[in-house]
Amino acid sequence: MSRDAKRVAIVGDPVEHSLSPVMQNTAFASAGLDWEMVRLQVAAGGGAGVIGRVRAGEFAGLAITMPLKEEAANAVDELDPASERLRSVNTAVALQSGSVLGMSTDGDGFVRSLYACDVELINRKVHVVGAGGAARSIIAALGAIDGCSITVSNRTFSAAVATAGLVDGAQAVGEEDMADAVRSADVVVNTTSVGMGLDQNIGAVPLPVELISQRHVVADIVYHPLTTALLASAGARGATTVDGLGMLVHQAVLQCEAWTGFSPDPLKMRVAAEAELSRRSG
Ligand code: ATR
Repeated sequence: MSRDAKRVAIVGDPVEHSLSPVMQNTAFASAGLDWEMVRLQVAAGGGAGVIGRVRAGEFAGLAITMPLKEEAANAVDELDPASERLRSVNTAVALQSGSVLGMSTDGDGFVRSLYACDVELINRKVHVVGAGGAARSIIAALGAIDGCSITVSNRTFSAAVATAGLVDGAQAVGEEDMADAVRSADVVVNTTSVGMGLDQNIGAVPLPVELISQRHVVADIVYHPLTTALLASAGARGATTVDGLGMLVHQAVLQCEAWTGFSPDPLKMRVAAEAELSRRSG
């Protein structure tokens, strides 16, 4: 690296399987930037310390994953509106002033991934399955879209109620109302881990696929495998499907923009991520 080189890190525990370095290093190279992303394993309790290393100038920014998102939100100097609402950050940015800005790019990344597939969200009904951190980011972003109405269901109903409470008008639905909510939705999103990894062998799905028809857009945030059992069934029933790599890529685009000011090509980042995924499974 040259003297002008800048370094960012993906921090959390675990970080060894993160696709962030391959995506970001592809983005930096495509811009001719002498920037680099490295992996830094930081266990729970280390959030404030690593934010301090950004403040001290060691890193120009961070991508932040489990289990540090809340700790980092408490340690940064400023929060963007999304992360303020969520009290969770997936991005830290070293500002000229010496302060560290915390951001949450997951929700906007999800929305951008749908727009990239020509999916309309204005005045549409979205049903979100799951109520964890990813669901919270997505719902907060959907809540900023004109006329977008949101329903949420979850294995644990109390979590659905808490997550729906993030956005005025969003509604938690229990088991008895879930079928109606899915049938009447335009877009259905799986934010749970159901269908990930080993689940693919047993074809696990997070909702009854009989509820899906060709009028639906079905999005999954799981990207391993790229075609989850849910997306395969939804596609077979004529629905439009959006895989989970879209959200991962577009939240990374927003991170790169925040750190460097450069807007990278999502397609190049996606190709790099897919190549890495197939290298690992091959
Ligand atoms: P993330 O940050 O990826 O959202 P999380 O915060 O741990 O992860 O949230 C996981 C979500 O997946 C939760 O909504 C969880 O449901 P519970 O609130 O009932 O725990 C859901 N989830 C995980 N495993 C599940 C399963 N086997 N069946 C149904 N829902 C599941």
